[in-house]
Amino acid sequence: MKTNTKSKSAALWEDRSKLVSSGSAAYSSLVLEKGLGAKVWDVDGKEYLDFAGGIGALNVGHCHPKVVAALREQAGKLLHTSFHVAAYENYLDVCRELIAVAPWQGPKKAILFNSGSEAIENAVKFARGYTKRRTVIAFDNAFHGRTLLCLALDGKHKPLRQGLGAMPPDVHHARYPYSYRPPVGVPASELTAHCLESLENLFRVSAAAEDVAAIIVEPVQGEGGFIVPTPGFLKGLRTLCDKHGIVLIVDEVQTGFGRTGEMFAIEHDGVAPDLMVVAKSLCGGMPLSGVVGRTEIMDSVATGAIGGTYGGNPMACAAALAVFKIMKEEKLVAAGKKIGETVKKRFDGFRDKYSFVGDSRGLGAMRAIELVTDKKSKTPLPAAKVKDILHACEDRGLIVIKAGVHDNVIRTLMPLVISDADLKRGLDILDDAFGSFKL
Ligand SMILES: Cc1ncc(COP(=O)(O)O)c(C=O)c1O
Repeated sequence: MKTNTKSKSAALWEDRSKLVSSGSAAYSSLVLEKGLGAKVWDVDGKEYLDFAGGIGALNVGHCHPKVVAALREQAGKLLHTSFHVAAYENYLDVCRELIAVAPWQGPKKAILFNSGSEAIENAVKFARGYTKRRTVIAFDNAFHGRTLLCLALDGKHKPLRQGLGAMPPDVHHARYPYSYRPPVGVPASELTAHCLESLENLFRVSAAAEDVAAIIVEPVQGEGGFIVPTPGFLKGLRTLCDKHGIVLIVDEVQTGFGRTGEMFAIEHDGVAPDLMVVAKSLCGGMPLSGVVGRTEIMDSVATGAIGGTYGGNPMACAAALAVFKIMKEEKLVAAGKKIGETVKKRFDGFRDKYSFVGDSRGLGAMRAIELVTDKKSKTPLPAAKVKDILHACEDRGLIVIKAGVHDNVIRTLMPLVISDADLKRGLDILDDAFGSFKL
């Protein structure tokens, strides 16, 4: 007799297709039930190593026992007041921690939100309120989120803005130094100067510097494909902002909390931003984001102009305080550096071994490889072929996700609590999937 062999995962995936808007991206076809550290299990009991970490939100790993304990304790005390109605202590403690770790000197304040996009929107509001200017400059390949202003800031049109009509005005894009794909005729040694000059050109052509409220930049581009800027670029932005009275907003949503081997990626360059946006790994899997910045900017907008019902919810704050403790106790910044060294060695090896691995790059544990049809033309490997590789990884028990304007970059965002053995096993799986891939 024929039995119905459809797995629970497959059945639930069908439900996903029926019930959830097709506008929601699907990086895999997994339906997960539980997770611990760097491992997860699907609803059919299959185990996976997780190199995606909830898109970089899980530097402390899945269900860290101390995060879970903090949530359990908080759940019995206070779930919600709305910070506007009544303050509570753990919101203040998270702000205290953020101000303490923000990597620059001087008086600072903080405020909390729910998502990265929401914090980005509000950082721009602070910059506009402070400067009384309206224009914002972002970069090619940037990703800052999916709310309307964030969409306008994003440096990738399809599919993000595709068919969605008019975007908020007064947003311009300048060139980010992408050293694997420099503009034709620009040698590597001149890429920093070229990109900074593209900003000066933008000031001349389409956005007068004195109208610019903010320049917003990822210190390593995340969704754009883990693009590490060329030396001197971020310092150059600081100089330009100082020259023209522009607020420098650094988006550490994906790069923060040890991912790059420093607490924040901007520390590699020793650049002091005016405002820093944090989210993702701030909170061990709970929704929480924040802006920390110079007090005079943070106090420049009308009371009531910033906030929301749930921002800095007590549950999320309890989890974030546990995350700050775990980061110190388990030395996760140092772990980010060490993991990065291991992954770099293997990825550089893949570049030498496989004709379709064009570039190996990154900072700390934020590492990526860019896939091409051949190394000379650097033609991006078609997205469908990249998907084949990702599925081959999935079949072998590894979750890993793509990035890049051409969707041809494979990136690593594994929890920083991953064991050496699991890290090696995950990299071996990737190697095996590459080995079985046919161009
Ligand atoms: C650098 C960066 N900024 C902002 C965001 C938006 O964050 P969220 O998805 O929480 O709105 C993301 C999300 O991936 C991000 O990587």
